[in-house]
Amino acid sequence: MKGLIIVGSARVNSHTKALAQYLKGQLEEKDVETEIFDLADQPIHTLDVSGASNPPDEYKRNVEALQKKAREADFIILGTPNYHGSYSGILKNALDHLTMDDFKMKPVGLMGNSGGIVSAEPLSHLRLIVRTLLGIAVPTQIATHDSDFGKLDDGTFYLQDEEFQLRSRLFVEQIVSFAESRPYEHLK
Ligand SMILES: Cc1cc2nc3c(=O)[nH]c(=O)nc-3n(C[C@H](O)[C@H](O)[C@H](O)COP(=O)(O)O)c2cc1C
Repeated sequence: MKGLIIVGSARVNSHTKALAQYLKGQLEEKDVETEIFDLADQPIHTLDVSGASNPPDEYKRNVEALQKKAREADFIILGTPNYHGSYSGILKNALDHLTMDDFKMKPVGLMGNSGGIVSAEPLSHLRLIVRTLLGIAVPTQIATHDSDFGKLDDGTFYLQDEEFQLRSRLFVEQIVSFAESRPYEHLK
């Protein structure tokens, strides 16, 4: 089984990435191969349906890699910072490069981080998008705050809060269970 975590923060070494890394660790303990696609590390160009722009080759390669990984994944986790009460534009742009074929009847986990007042609204907004893409957003989601993270000497964040560590385990249990049982596979 393969999982893909898309991190939609505009910040390199974000809290959202730290959450993704915690989840990757939990998933790998269950022998689930998991890859993090961090859009801050692997930027992609703005969707241009007309093809009039000329994006750098690196960005084009990143888009192709994202599309391939999303298509091959048995489940996808979307991670976003809270930007203006919603998910990030970077993440929306990445989703616009994907299609229903990448999400149809596939389990999707939602997680995000806020720096101000903790909000699950960005995740509610993403839930609507996942439904539109015919994905199955699992009920458990994770909405953290900056204060739930510790910081290492090199500036890297890590998930410190024990409640969220526990919630992450439930989140992982749920998404792996959905991906293993594939209850909606026949409806594809
Ligand atoms: C464009 C922008 C808009 C933001 N809007 C909000 C907001 O509406 N509510 C909030 O709590 N934090 C807001 N923030 C703060 C981020 O949520 C905060 O920086 C958080 O640490 C981002 O997580 P990250 O490290 O995973 O990127 C905003 C930050 C940016 C850059």
